Amino acid sequence: MSERKKVTIPVLFKKVQDGEPITWLTCYDYPTAFLQEQAGIEMILVGDSLGMTMLGYESTLPVTMEDMIRHTQAVRRGSPNAFLVGDMPYMSYQPSTESAIRNAGRFMAEASCDAVKLEGGVEMAERVRGIHDAGIPVIGHLGLTPQSVSALGGYRVQGRGAAQAKKIVEDAKALEEAGAFAILLEMVPDRLCQLITERAENCFIMGLGSGPHAHGQLLIYHDMFGLYPRFKPRMAKVFGNAGEVILNGLKGYQEEVKTGVFPQPDNWFGIKDEEFDELLTLLKGEANG
Ligand code: KIV
Repeated sequence: MSERKKVTIPVLFKKVQDGEPITWLTCYDYPTAFLQEQAGIEMILVGDSLGMTMLGYESTLPVTMEDMIRHTQAVRRGSPNAFLVGDMPYMSYQPSTESAIRNAGRFMAEASCDAVKLEGGVEMAERVRGIHDAGIPVIGHLGLTPQSVSALGGYRVQGRGAAQAKKIVEDAKALEEAGAFAILLEMVPDRLCQLITERAENCFIMGLGSGPHAHGQLLIYHDMFGLYPRFKPRMAKVFGNAGEVILNGLKGYQEEVKTGVFPQPDNWFGIKDEEFDELLTLLKGEANG
């Protein structure tokens, strides 16, 4: 395990103050969390995108609190030091402030999270305030909010028109005033992201597909490594094609087993001659008895 120091909220704000962009990635399992810990990734989001990337649903809506807690626990085991954010799934916070506090508390108590994230602006500000007042750090999420994909008319850029952009600016202020210490802007135009970043006073801004001006960047792990088979969003840069590497490996395994190339002596275990002879004698004795 690396000698990393634990990433905390003061550590993150210090980076903002120093103008050092913050790195944030999604993660859903133990081995990937282990690698992200080694790479020094500062924030990890166990996103409800796991419904699509890990469970094969067509949207994030079917994801439950139980799904989220199980995956978040595994990620924490792999990465003890990254700042771990649990993503509140659909209907875990929308019904009431009480449901929001209870479920946010589960992420903290059962999965050792450092914070939670939820989607929505002014209309969710009371939930954010309730979670914050309960002593749980909370991150807002504006722009393309996948839990509202139907209402938004699909996975598309948000805030291209002035009126919608103004609403996003107001939403960001409302979340900040309600106590969010950070806000994620997903798929908003770069200059809108810059404007909101410049106006942030008591929170910092993270961007996903929203340009270079935010205080840090978030990417979906599966998009970075060619691991999501259905599509690759334009905003995602592929940093390595792990999907291709794995597919070639799988084809190799299929071929080698069929042709007898695998396994080789290195891949199996033997038994001493005398033990094997004794085994045969024992079995013969049983058959005769
Ligand atoms: O669930 C998730 O991974 C997210 C990102 C799309 C921001 O919320």
